[in-house]
Amino acid sequence: MKKIIINGANGYVASNFINSLLNTNYQVIALVRGSKKLSANERMFKVLSEINDAEYVRTCQLKVYAYSLTEENFSMAEEDLQDIFSGEFDYYHFAASLKYDRKSKNEIFGTNIDGIKNSLDVYARYANSKSRLFFISTAYSCGRMSGLFEEKFYDNDNISAFRNYYEQSKRYAENVVKNYIEEHQINAHIIRLSQVVGDSKTGITKTDYGIFDFAKRMFSLAHRYPNQTVRLKVDPEATQNLIPIDIVVHNLMRTVATEKVPTIMNFTAKKSVKNQHIIRAVTQLMPIKIVPVENLKKDDMSPLERLVSVGMSFTGNYININLHFDTKNTDSLPRINGYQNLNNEHQGISEEQSTYKMLEYFIGTLPVPKGSKTISKDGATV
Ligand SMILES: NC(=O)c1ccc[n+]([C@@H]2O[C@H](COP(=O)([O-])OP(=O)(O)OC[C@H]3O[C@@H](n4cnc5c(N)ncnc54)[C@H](OP(=O)(O)O)[C@@H]3O)[C@@H](O)[C@H]2O)c1
Repeated sequence: MKKIIINGANGYVASNFINSLLNTNYQVIALVRGSKKLSANERMFKVLSEINDAEYVRTCQLKVYAYSLTEENFSMAEEDLQDIFSGEFDYYHFAASLKYDRKSKNEIFGTNIDGIKNSLDVYARYANSKSRLFFISTAYSCGRMSGLFEEKFYDNDNISAFRNYYEQSKRYAENVVKNYIEEHQINAHIIRLSQVVGDSKTGITKTDYGIFDFAKRMFSLAHRYPNQTVRLKVDPEATQNLIPIDIVVHNLMRTVATEKVPTIMNFTAKKSVKNQHIIRAVTQLMPIKIVPVENLKKDDMSPLERLVSVGMSFTGNYININLHFDTKNTDSLPRINGYQNLNNEHQGISEEQSTYKMLEYFIGTLPVPKGSKTISKDGATV
């Protein structure tokens, strides 16, 4: 079986991918940075154990190495590098800073652009002609463009064309890969993800990104100020493109299993979910009434509404958009046996139902903030 090398391996998407690879008997090399408290190895095993709810984790085919993403040769010993990058392999570059604030610009660019440059250098030193590199990007590298975001390269642009430095850094990083392909004739691909959510079948959601970050903020608010009505500056008809983790993993498994894959693939949902459905779900799941108001002015907001609007600076950027992604390349990947149901619709469950299930699971795992009143689902304070 082919060897799969993955960096940023302890992250949300990469660790779920690794879990699936191990269950399918692939040999996996995980590159993880150690933390103050835990070694790279401990961090990897901890996250795999969490995914499997502390049940048996199949790890005999897994090898974990500590590395330093932006240091020359990942600060690894030459014999380790030769061992890791020997023979035929697929290398998936997941490591990224998902920060978005202006203050973190250097960290975002350093991790997302210098990180892939360094990965490409290491890859090019060792890869044989059959090996492949996959750069995990974001569908939001589309920035503020309107119209269909195709599975092709787009030119670099200045920050005004993007919602934040994260989006811009990923566009730049894609073009670093493009130039490397042209200059070094390497076999490299781009995979763009939209907002990755929980499991479409079980509802299990172990990420607090995007709409779950929003749900977490509302949960905290609902406990501090129970039973309030809060208006949010949100277009109820605008949409969120949510791609369930099981479908992302399935698509990644399709890339591993397919010899010739397109250069760029958008892993995005066919159907986006309207904000009004997300807000309705959140309102049903906690004692707060959220009313989306498209043209809510700051001056008309109550102090509570202003508080919410400040805390939503990131989510807010994504709240009034309707993006369209082309998925022809992704759709052309052959299916894998055992994964027949690609679309939620085929499972008899709509995107809205699946999103509700995920929010229900996620909210159920949130700790009640200290000192707040306990609130039952029907809003009574206990
Ligand atoms: N989640 C989404 O909705 C989404 C959407 C679009 C695209 N993506 C892309 O998908 C990929 C994975 O995202 P995710 O949601 O799984 O993110 P995640 O859970 O935050 O994982 C990010 C990974 O990158 C590593 N990393 C960050 N900075 C690093 C550095 N300076 N050096 C080495 N490693 C570093 C993290 O390691 P530490 O744990 O040590 O920090 C972690 O392993 C990213 O490239 C992201 O841009 C994700």
